[in-house]
Amino acid sequence: MSDHNKYNIDLTMDPPAEDTLRQYYFIEKAKQYVKAESEEAGRPLTACITTFGCQMNARDSEKLRGILLDIGYEEAPEEEADFVIFNTCTVRENANTRVYGRLGQLKPRKKKNPHMKIGLCGCMMQEPEVIEKLKKSYSFVDIVFGTHNIYKFAELICQRYESKKMVVDIWKDTDKIVEDLPNERKYSFKSGINIMFGCNNFCSYCIVPYVRGRERSRKPEDIIREIKRLVADGVTEVMLLGQNVNSYGKTLDEPMTFAQLLTEIEKIEGLKRIRFMTSHPKDLSDELIDVMASSKKICKHLHLPVQSGSTQILEKMNRRYTKESYLHLVEKLRAKVPDISLTTDIIVGFPGETEEDFEETLDVVRKVRYDSAFTFIYSKRTGTPAAKMENQVPADVVKDRFDRLLAEVQSIAAEVCAVHEGTTQEVLIESVSDHDPSMVTGRMSNNLLVHLKGDASMIGSYVNAHLTECKGFYYLGELVE
Ligand code: SAH
Ligand code: SF4
Ligand code: F3S
Repeated sequence: MSDHNKYNIDLTMDPPAEDTLRQYYFIEKAKQYVKAESEEAGRPLTACITTFGCQMNARDSEKLRGILLDIGYEEAPEEEADFVIFNTCTVRENANTRVYGRLGQLKPRKKKNPHMKIGLCGCMMQEPEVIEKLKKSYSFVDIVFGTHNIYKFAELICQRYESKKMVVDIWKDTDKIVEDLPNERKYSFKSGINIMFGCNNFCSYCIVPYVRGRERSRKPEDIIREIKRLVADGVTEVMLLGQNVNSYGKTLDEPMTFAQLLTEIEKIEGLKRIRFMTSHPKDLSDELIDVMASSKKICKHLHLPVQSGSTQILEKMNRRYTKESYLHLVEKLRAKVPDISLTTDIIVGFPGETEEDFEETLDVVRKVRYDSAFTFIYSKRTGTPAAKMENQVPADVVKDRFDRLLAEVQSIAAEVCAVHEGTTQEVLIESVSDHDPSMVTGRMSNNLLVHLKGDASMIGSYVNAHLTECKGFYYLGELVE
């Protein structure tokens, strides 16, 4: 645990004004509340955070977890935990539906357990109609906060202890980035790192810019310092996170490109692998391709969401590239980084999508030959421009296209993945296999998984694996001494 004494926290004083110090003050204060409650209960209090969204959401959960463990909670599965936190997502309607369903299940548990608390945070909370609904129909929830103020978690917990009623704290937007707070990583050997927050792209279907606010980049020195600290703590692989990492640095006082940031990160000794997501095709520069081509640490994988293969639909989506320019970009990438693996996101059934538009998407899939693709059925998000567009595509037509797309994506992915069969690759071992305790699972530079004989002692180490058999989306391999 981090040593807070260095901050000289004195709870008899008023809380400090500076953000980081202020939060360490509330961490100390919350610690006392939790200790008292746990003495009353005669046992330690437990907590669980469930992440519903993307990798940025998952990284936020690690920050919340750091605070919870600091203030004295122990971890437990959701079914047993005294404090249940849902870190929500609202990118598609079904993400919201899942949260309400799970929330309903918590109500009877809360009646039985006097120490139970429920916290809701994340992107869904940034929508005013969600907050209205929670206040009206889910008043048993204790703490509600949004995406901009997760760093205040300990302060909100204190408020809940003091006020005894639902605490709601939602900010519309922020220009703040609060550094140096605790966090607890899920893996010891790899970590996500936020390099920027928010999004300014306003793709017409997407709610993220409304719930994550305006784009802002962390200072390079803060990012480098965090990575160095992680490396000293055993991390060898980092995933740089942002909604559009290719526009990193544009809003800094001293602007810097993403490619320049990568060059600096590459120099960190002890760091072995660098990944990043997500890359918006419109901002992927030649400078970045060159840095990727010459780097020894940047993984041979790029997630490059295309969303649609139809230039006409791309325009309505406000993606600011065409089918041709996307394909040209892929060509340039493959010419400079020949063994790169490409993955993508595709939306089916965007308003006005015709059969011809959809065929263009299939055409891109066939031309690019992705290693894998996340396929989504278009979901109408209130407040986005696309929600008001005419010609919403009927559900049965969308379903038919979705099935055809999935079949195409999967059969190509199986062929593309199989090309590595018989080769030997470096693999970072991540976990013991879920299905077979005598096997471990590792990840190659290109992000594909390999299962091989082994045990927990190998977790976090790099081994060479001979890829004996491709099983569609993963490999069986043998350790090469
Ligand atoms: N910033 C990333 C994407 C973040 S959201 C990017 O620009 O690529 C992840 C994916 O969810 C998107 O790539 C898109 O394919 C999908 N998505 C976003 N909004 C959606 C919607 N309204 N309906 C269906 N899928 C959506
Ligand atoms: Fe959404 Fe587009 Fe921003 Fe990605 S770039 S988060 S799809 S608005
Ligand atoms: Fe979902 Fe928010 Fe991520 S809406 S996809 S959790 S940024």
